[in-house]
Order: sequence, then C-alpha cells, then structure tokens
Amino acid sequence: MLERLERLPIDSILGLMALYRADTDPRKVDLGVGVYRDDQGHTPILSCVRRAEQAVLGRQTTKSYVAAAGNAGFNQAMAQLVLGEGHPVLAADRVRSIQATGGCGALRLGAELFRAAQPETVVHVSTPTWANHVPLLSGCGLKLERYPYYDPATGGVKFDAMLGTLDRLPARSVVLLHASCHNPTGADLSETQWRELLDLFKRRSLLPFIDIAYQGLGTGLAEDAFGIRLFCAELPEVAVAVSCSKNFGLYRERTGCLHVISESPTAGDATLSHQVRIARSIYSMPPDHGAAIVHEILGDPGYREQWMEELAGMRKRITGLRHELVKHLARACPQRDFGFIAGQRGMFSFLGVDVPQVRALREQHHVYMTDDSRINIAGLSADNIEYFARAVAQVLRN
Ligand SMILES: Cc1ncc(COP(=O)(O)O)c(C=O)c1O
Repeated sequence: MLERLERLPIDSILGLMALYRADTDPRKVDLGVGVYRDDQGHTPILSCVRRAEQAVLGRQTTKSYVAAAGNAGFNQAMAQLVLGEGHPVLAADRVRSIQATGGCGALRLGAELFRAAQPETVVHVSTPTWANHVPLLSGCGLKLERYPYYDPATGGVKFDAMLGTLDRLPARSVVLLHASCHNPTGADLSETQWRELLDLFKRRSLLPFIDIAYQGLGTGLAEDAFGIRLFCAELPEVAVAVSCSKNFGLYRERTGCLHVISESPTAGDATLSHQVRIARSIYSMPPDHGAAIVHEILGDPGYREQWMEELAGMRKRITGLRHELVKHLARACPQRDFGFIAGQRGMFSFLGVDVPQVRALREQHHVYMTDDSRINIAGLSADNIEYFARAVAQVLRN
C-alpha cells in the first residue's frame, strides 16, 4: 500500500537549512530559520530554565501520566501571563485552557475545536501569514481564506483594505490574528487599530483566533498581549494559541497551550470537554517537561524575575539590531529606504527584494533567507551585519 506514495518535495525551510549546512564559506550568514540567536549565533538555554529544570527534576517522584489537559498549574499561570492578572474573564471563570504541544499543537487543537462546533467554519488568515498556519489550520478540513494585511510600500499594515475585507464576512467566521511580532512581516497593529478592529468583530459577530508566539519579544509582556486582553474583555468568545518556544527558549520541549474564552462558565466546561476529547484522539497526553519548567519559573518570584530579565535582554538585542541594520543599510544603499525595519517588531522582516536577488545573496554572498526575503533579525550580529548590508547593496546594484 505505502509503495503507492510519491515522494514529496522537501519543505523549503528545511531545504534552506541543508544548503546552509553544506556551505563551507566562513562568511556565511543564516537569516532563514526562525529561532532566536545571541551575538555568538547560539540559541541558548536560558539560565532561569536551567535552574527551574534542576528544581523540577530534584522534586519529581514519578513519570506517570499527568492529564489530557496537561499541567493545571501551568495552564492557569499561562492564562494569567497572557491575559494579565485580574483580567475580568478570569474573575468571571470564562477561560478554559488545555496544554498543547507547542504553539503548533495549540493552533491545531483550536482548528479541531472549530470543526467540532461548526464543520463549515472558514478561517481567514493574513496575506501573508506564517507558512505553517496553512497546514495546521486547514489540515483538519477547514476552509482557509485570506485577508489583505502587509503593505510592502510602507512596511506597515494595509489597515483599510483589511477592514474592508473583514467587514464583508458572514457571522461566525474565524479570523486568525497575530498578537504581535507578525511572522513573517514584523508589521503589527497599533492600539488604535486593535480598537477599531474590535468594533468590527462586534458588529459582524466574528470569532478571533489569536496566535501569540512572541510575547515579550516585541515591546513588552503587556504591550505584546494588548490586543488579546482587549478582545477577551469585550467579546463573548475568543481563542488564543500560545507558544513558549521563543520567549522561554523551550523549542524542542513542545510547550504551549490553547485558551478558549466562552460566554459563560457552563459553555466553557462544554468547550473544555471537547478540547480534551480532541487531544485524546490525537496524542492522548501532552509532554510534561517544558510545562513543568514554565510552571516553576512563573510560580517562583526569583526565577520569574530572572526570566523577565533574560527576556528583556533578548528583546533589546532584537530592537537594537533593527536600528543597527537600518543604519548599515542606509550607508551601504543610500538610494533605498529601509527605515521601516526599525519600526517593525519581533524577529522577522521582509527585506523586500525579489527571488533572483534572494538567490544572488545566497549564491554569491552566502547569505541565506527564504525566497519571500523574510530575514530573521536575530541571525545578525556585530560580526556579520556590515557584511550583510554590503551584500544587499551589491545585489541591488546588479
Ligand atoms: C506565528 C507563529 N505561531 C506559532 C508558532 C509555533 O511554534 P511552536 O509550535 O514551535 O511553539 C510559531 C513558531 O515559529 C510562529 O512563528
């Protein structure tokens, strides 16, 4: 039976990683893969994670199953982290959370939940959006459509076009929003725009599904969750997919959760029963280790403070690199304005060059990025930023 399967083309980002690894030039620069890197090019284990991990392992007495919904203390701490302590939906007992295998797992659990509630659900995603949103959300059979979002002319959001499209959607359409640090563009909604969007969601009875994978890496923990906190306070139903991969550096531990805000505690209980059934039918129980570490960090004032410092360090490095990059590019290619990069947030930006130029950067200058010219800002460092800016200038001149 299986011999009938035809070989699939290699995933483009995995293909890019293989090309980078095979490149022996010492000047090579990896701006492709979406992981945080320090100035030495490492993706470090945070010190708070090392300490909390030791504490967890020292206390652990069993490896028996936890629960299909995962670690209840972790789920609760994550709801407080995303919503902010004292949020009205917490007080009203309207939040139900389930641990997930990273942000990807949370996105898939959310999609499966919408399918269970309403099989004909259409999910609307931004143009462009993170490539993996497509298989994660449509893989369970939901239809996907797109709304306008990024404006390459300004490096910002095409907000009027976005509103125009969303204002035509039927009630109970699901709209996927990036809370902050939009992947792949770095273009975020302002607080005023979130408020305007809220009015539209109310008017048209749309259901927001908000993806937060970079809380604390944009402007700050509260600022990066502004839209979530606002929407959850004002709308009857919201779903939030959370990833701890980037802000806790726990990538391989597959740590995240899905929060669902329902209209009432009773509706919440019904929703949770479906979330648990869905999880049981896919993988039964989530992995424990990463969630136990995050629970330990958020519950211990010392570890928590250290985490916030380390997170601020990552955020400042990214923001600093954005400004440095704009300076270097302004010097190397004065004919083109790259100032928009400094106004964007998070790890990614579109450089705004075409596919032949992306290929030239790779083949002639050993600089690796995806064909859409998305660059991982954290892949830059004091050692390679000038080399990178000069390579861009050369490619633009040719
Ligand atoms: C926008 C977005 N959402 C979700 C995720 C989920 O990440 P993970 O499943 O590794 O936690 C990522 C990771 O790159 C992302 O960029």
